[in-house]
Amino acid sequence: MLAVEQLSHRFRNGSEETPVLHHIQFKVEKGEMVALLGSSGSGKSTLLNLMAGLMKPSEGSIVINNRPIEKMSENELAEFRRTHIGFIFQSYELIPHLTVRENVELPLVFQGVKAKLRKEKALSLLNKVGIGEKSELFPSQLSGGQQQRVSIARSLVTEPAIVFADEPTGNLDTTTEKEIIDLLIELNETLFITFVIVTHELEVARRTRRVIQLRDGFLVEDASWAGDAE
Ligand SMILES: Nc1ncnc2c1ncn2[C@@H]1O[C@H](COP(=O)(O)OP(=O)(O)OP(=O)(O)O)[C@@H](O)[C@H]1O
Ligand SMILES: [Mg+2]
Repeated sequence: MLAVEQLSHRFRNGSEETPVLHHIQFKVEKGEMVALLGSSGSGKSTLLNLMAGLMKPSEGSIVINNRPIEKMSENELAEFRRTHIGFIFQSYELIPHLTVRENVELPLVFQGVKAKLRKEKALSLLNKVGIGEKSELFPSQLSGGQQQRVSIARSLVTEPAIVFADEPTGNLDTTTEKEIIDLLIELNETLFITFVIVTHELEVARRTRRVIQLRDGFLVEDASWAGDAE
């Protein structure tokens, strides 16, 4: 499904180079749910953005469904991302002047899917994430937790191979955070969605079956366990 191979990354500012990731290597199988843990500045978002094809690595490879994405042209990569990769942002990134349903439909608009099918798929997912009755409202009329549910539905609407989430509960209170994590776990268990979730909350990481930990750009731990950690 996903293989990260000898991945290193440096940011360049003029003549200065900042190394951020060092020889990262791991695999994620279909249906896994992985927490990517580490303190602020450890390189979590950088790693996630590289895996999601939002930028190119300095060295190494990211293979998704047997395709090394760093070798793709900009156009190929854009198309691959549209069809294979879902992304959930901490700040939801919903379009304010589109309704909840239209926001969820948007990735399908880019794929040229017909309106009737778009609407069906969006409503079905909005029901699955528990906000079917909010479909004709605008994002500003929803709570933070509800907006994150919309963004989760949007990330799933193209039936991607893998979904990356960068601190999806970072803007939410503890109770809502637990609800969103419950939802992600439920989607993983019932729809076999593969998730890689960045967090610096140990509580979130405890709920997944696998934790990959970064420290100063190095992978320092990759631990799996069966069953629920609770
Ligand atoms: N565009 C950039 N240019 C230069 N340095 C960068 C850039 N983006 C990130 N960095 C640096 O890379 C390091 C890792 O940043 P990253 O955003 O991946 O950390 P993070 O683990 O996601 O942290 P946080 O928990 O605070 O979100 C930091 O030292 C940061 O300053
Ligand atoms: Mg980050």
